[in-house]
Amino acid sequence: MSFGRFEPEHAAGEGQRTFEVGDVRSGPIQVAPSIGEYFWICQNGIDVAFLHWLVWNNDLMFQFTQTRNGVWAMERRSLLRAGAALVLTAAGLPSLLRAQPGANAALITARIPGAGRELPVIGIGTARRYADPKGDAELAALRATISRFVELEGQVIDTAPSYGRAEEVLGQLVQELGVRDRLFLATKVGVSSRQEGVAQIEQSFVKLRTNRIDMIAVHNLRDVDNQLAILRDLKAAGRIRVVGATTSFDSQYGAFEAMMRRQALDVIQVDYAMDNRKVAERILPLAQERGFAVMINLPFGRGRLFEATKGRPLPDWASEIGARSWAQVFLKYIVSHPSRPIAVPGMAQARYVDDNLSAAHQPLPDAALRRRMEQFIDAL
Ligand SMILES: NC(=O)c1ccc[n+]([C@@H]2O[C@H](COP(=O)([O-])OP(=O)(O)OC[C@H]3O[C@@H](n4cnc5c(N)ncnc54)[C@H](OP(=O)(O)O)[C@@H]3O)[C@@H](O)[C@H]2O)c1
Repeated sequence: MSFGRFEPEHAAGEGQRTFEVGDVRSGPIQVAPSIGEYFWICQNGIDVAFLHWLVWNNDLMFQFTQTRNGVWAMERRSLLRAGAALVLTAAGLPSLLRAQPGANAALITARIPGAGRELPVIGIGTARRYADPKGDAELAALRATISRFVELEGQVIDTAPSYGRAEEVLGQLVQELGVRDRLFLATKVGVSSRQEGVAQIEQSFVKLRTNRIDMIAVHNLRDVDNQLAILRDLKAAGRIRVVGATTSFDSQYGAFEAMMRRQALDVIQVDYAMDNRKVAERILPLAQERGFAVMINLPFGRGRLFEATKGRPLPDWASEIGARSWAQVFLKYIVSHPSRPIAVPGMAQARYVDDNLSAAHQPLPDAALRRRMEQFIDAL
């Protein structure tokens, strides 16, 4: 990513700065200063790009972070070559931005029945990386991750009793940061009997340091009918909001589908990724038919997709959906599925939060582009 330098000689008058911008058919473009670091650029009411301000070494820099018309890394040279003027004014800040200080637009959200609010379509998964943080440095990185996530208006964090100490770590960090009310905490129950289920769930309340858990799902179909009965009682008692079931195994899909037909759920959580699309054949359509919300685990195939695309430049079509990284390509593919899923990528670094939450913004791929994305990944 390169930056264009904002220089005083470009000033076009009081409160305004002018740049030359490539690939703009008619100017000027209005750029409204936001409360935070981002600017939403509109031309004739149509979004053209995001501008991200950076102050570095006392120099005001700018960087285009999203575009629909091919304007990417903006260097002053290329700016000056091109035709139209870019004018920064104090007017016309879209309400979209006002509601999201520090973020570059409202996050795309989805509904889960019972959740009581809209939830951004990108959350955090806590398997592995939250299981056993060693020392202050690792814990600090997790704290910074959650802190940045909340700052960017993320809500959903997914965990499970089987993820080592993840529930405990999450409970501690959420309490320290004082952000419990801003989060939607999802955990699971994965045991073999009613008695064990009740005990494990009570432990989750303790470890997560909360009186109400937003969502509990039966993990990988274990003792699913008994555990769902417990969860429904808890929901009726107001101790949890949302009841679900998960799997991430192809071998369970048949049984999972049968369970979806006989049980009433609020949400399912299944594995889906650009290179792992089996759930799109029957399970996701069935969720839509049954009115169940969808959460997606393993959206990167546990890092497999990064390996497959390592060293490759983003394809041209990535700019059509405003994707500036492979992570955003992979996530935009998922959240554009018609079932409007919420993906929970594993994230233990604050920079991943910035990257991944950017995928929860328009534009998303349409059906034709989704097919091209599939063909691309299948051909690797
Ligand atoms: N049956 C179930 O219920 C079930 C099963 C599996 C998973 N899950 C849930 O799904 C969540 C996601 O699965 P997962 O964490 O195993 O795998 P994943 O989300 O497919 O991949 C996560 C890994 O991708 C890398 N990554 C994340 N953001 C990145 C970015 N912006 N750029 C580059 N690399 C990035 C990280 O690798 P590094 O950390 O190595 O950098 C991270 O550990 C789990 O945490 C868990 O909550 C549920």
